[in-house]
Amino acid sequence: MSTNRTANFAVDGKHVEFPVMSGTHGNDVIDIRTLGAKTGLFTYDPGFLSTASCQSKVTYIDGDKGELLYRGYPIEQLAEQCNFLEVAYLLRNGELPNAEKKTKFEDTIKKHTMVHEQLVKFYQGFRRDAHPMAVMVGVVGALSAFYHDAHDFSDAEHRSISFNRLIAKMPTIVAMTYKYSVGQPFMYPRNDLDYTANFMHMMFGTPAEEYKPNPVLVRALDVIFTLHADHEQNASTSTVRLAGSSGANPFACISAGIACLWGPAHGGANEACLEMLEEIGDVSRVGEYIKRAKDKTDNFKLMGFGHRVYKNFDPRARLMSKVCADVLSELGLENDRLFKLAKELEKIALEDDYFIEKKLYPNVDFYSGIVQKALGIPTSMFTCIFALARTVGWMTQWEEMITDPEYKIGRPRQLYTGAARRDVIQIAKR
Ligand code: ACO
Repeated sequence: MSTNRTANFAVDGKHVEFPVMSGTHGNDVIDIRTLGAKTGLFTYDPGFLSTASCQSKVTYIDGDKGELLYRGYPIEQLAEQCNFLEVAYLLRNGELPNAEKKTKFEDTIKKHTMVHEQLVKFYQGFRRDAHPMAVMVGVVGALSAFYHDAHDFSDAEHRSISFNRLIAKMPTIVAMTYKYSVGQPFMYPRNDLDYTANFMHMMFGTPAEEYKPNPVLVRALDVIFTLHADHEQNASTSTVRLAGSSGANPFACISAGIACLWGPAHGGANEACLEMLEEIGDVSRVGEYIKRAKDKTDNFKLMGFGHRVYKNFDPRARLMSKVCADVLSELGLENDRLFKLAKELEKIALEDDYFIEKKLYPNVDFYSGIVQKALGIPTSMFTCIFALARTVGWMTQWEEMITDPEYKIGRPRQLYTGAARRDVIQIAKR
């Protein structure tokens, strides 16, 4: 939304004026789209520290308050009162479903949970010890070869089918990735189970024995999905938008998002966090690792701490800490060594001047590894669980971009600092 305010710049004695735009919440932005044409100058902003890359109606984060809203609703209320598929419906459609729409949506998703039998061959092409995220990048990207009708993005029906397909198939694909890594047969989905219980059946069931989902654990995993469903213009979402801005197939764009998510500075942090807790091993060594985290000459970072946007508690970390306590109590693991260690690490870091000064708080990934481990999910699969949930956000944001009248192919500028123009010298004279 435009405002009456303007931003005035003086460059080389020339005055230029830019409109200031205002959103529903959050920082106003200076609309500098005409800067290049008016001045011949570009802006320089590596890592997008001060740049809004799009307008979006999906998710809002207030990093100073530690607030996260999906379509205006606080994450705490959604995690408590809704299931993951309701949240998926909300993110995509802008409103929560009523009971009838919820049932219809859940039925639609159930109809899409199976994958083409030929997809099995893709798994067989990977080594058994391949990292599950490498498999996910390949298999999800390969889906683009199966669904030609997803190519007409101007058609709302096609976009909707693509969304439903991916949301429905991600649990199947993630569970198949796991089964392949442990050498067990793939489990077909069960339509009598809800979304998350069905995922646990495909992960932990075998043809030899019926899997009986534990409702407390199913609910915990469902909340984990909700907490990871979307998070504004983060690195992987921006990757999906950038890949999609060329008109690429959405399944291929999601594969690009998965690749980006894999990194330890992003979705790989929960895996890295659990590895770090294992490495610290005992409460007596916490001080030593805090010292290392503060040492500029040591590139060790406290995994699960810090966030580009939250400069206060990540609200998802609070919820995750509670989910963690619930799961451990259900499983009789209240005295879990890593949970106790994580609590101690959190306490010490939150009292430390370095962490206070830099506003470094635990993020969502600090506790999610402990919960997932307790649920029986191996460490290398953690980021796949994140990808499963975030696919909702990625597809929602991809569609928002595709239908945005101001949509343009993403094409950042650069400040070139390489060699000045020069001529090639013949090879004999070099
Ligand atoms: N441990 C120790 N120091 C840290 C940490 C940390 N976890 N995080 C940031 N810092 C320090 C930096 O060294 C930097 O110090 P300086 O100002 O003296 O140079 C300062 O705090 C600011 O950190 P930046 O890395 O510049 O902040 P940025 O916003 O770019 O990075 C990030 C945020 C990538 C999340 C960072 O905090 C980090 O690497 N954390 C650990 C990994 C992690 O948990 N990632 C998960 C993010 S949440 C998610 O993706 C779901």
